[in-house]
Amino acid sequence: MGRFRWGVIGAGMIAKAACAQVAKSGRHEIVAVYSRTYDRALKFAGKYGAKCYTTLKEMLGDCNVDAVYVATPHSSHYANALECIEAGKPVLVEKAFTVNAAQAERVFALAKEKGVCVTEAMWTRFQPVVLEVVDAIENGEIGAVKRFTGGFSTPATWARRFLSDRLFKPEYAGGALLDVGVYPLSFAHMLLGVPDRLECRAELADGIDYRDEMTLHYDGGAVCELRCTLKGLESFTGVIEGERGKIVMPNYTRPKKAVVFDEKGRKKRVINGNRGYVYEFDALADSVRRGETESRFMTAEDTVEVMKMMDECRKQIGLAYPESIEST
Ligand SMILES: NC(=O)c1ccc[n+]([C@@H]2O[C@H](COP(=O)([O-])OP(=O)(O)OC[C@H]3O[C@@H](n4cnc5c(N)ncnc54)[C@H](OP(=O)(O)O)[C@@H]3O)[C@@H](O)[C@H]2O)c1
Repeated sequence: MGRFRWGVIGAGMIAKAACAQVAKSGRHEIVAVYSRTYDRALKFAGKYGAKCYTTLKEMLGDCNVDAVYVATPHSSHYANALECIEAGKPVLVEKAFTVNAAQAERVFALAKEKGVCVTEAMWTRFQPVVLEVVDAIENGEIGAVKRFTGGFSTPATWARRFLSDRLFKPEYAGGALLDVGVYPLSFAHMLLGVPDRLECRAELADGIDYRDEMTLHYDGGAVCELRCTLKGLESFTGVIEGERGKIVMPNYTRPKKAVVFDEKGRKKRVINGNRGYVYEFDALADSVRRGETESRFMTAEDTVEVMKMMDECRKQIGLAYPESIEST
């Protein structure tokens, strides 16, 4: 089986981090790059001997490209994904998938119509340790899940120094929720599905949310307490409490280990594994080879349901982005 050939849109922080790992795997090749600033795209493309394009249309016309990785700010994902699908190219779209659920639904509807595979690059859901934790829960190792607590943060002081300004601009759908809040929300959704009731509280300034606290209530009594912030650091440890034990996951969004405890708090076993970006690229490539239009690890329904949860959060905290990026 030959290497899977990727076109990349965007040449920023995550494109650099993800593509370095993906190219190193030997299973994938970065063959084409398009980004807003040609010089930056050219420098990035040069690392992989990839071809650099001045328009997305040109890149999508390249029959060498098996699929496209969308690594632009949230506000561009919708238009980028639609253009790729129209051109018949499978797409791996960075989180948050789109700006709102209506856009996500439109992307998946078009993908289905055209028979093209589309998946959200929510890397947590593809990590080996996470998949093993899901198996452990399905096998009843800690009984029914009663509570999940988890947070995520990118401190603004750090981001202003090392990242682009997209995080602080409403026109890029910046703010904490779509950038970091999506992680605990997606994790809670993976464990328990759509909550029966969701409460969100936030601190807003300059048209974005700096800090959110979300409580998800499920009719069976389960609760998720989730936090995200651009103001300082959150704990990156996720704790899943079940009726007969718990699982503690340091760096739960990208874990290298998870520790399983019994109902008396005694350590039962440790789940270890590698972590990285390559797993989501492997999954998309496998789905394309099997002729699927979505990945079983992160389905269209998963993505749309999480986007709906974020729409509900934004409704409760009164956060709307500019109409130009909210429209479908
Ligand atoms: N999975 C993860 O761990 C992870 C981590 C970080 C970010 N992300 C996600 O990845 C995405 C990008 O984040 P980032 O931090 O990499 O952002 P970034 O550093 O600002 O990079 C974005 C890139 O997209 C380009 N771009 C912007 N608008 C564009 C457009 N309309 N068309 C084509 N290219 C455009 C930018 O070009 P210029 O250089 O010319 O501005 C830049 O190269 C976001 O969705 C974010 O949530 C995921």
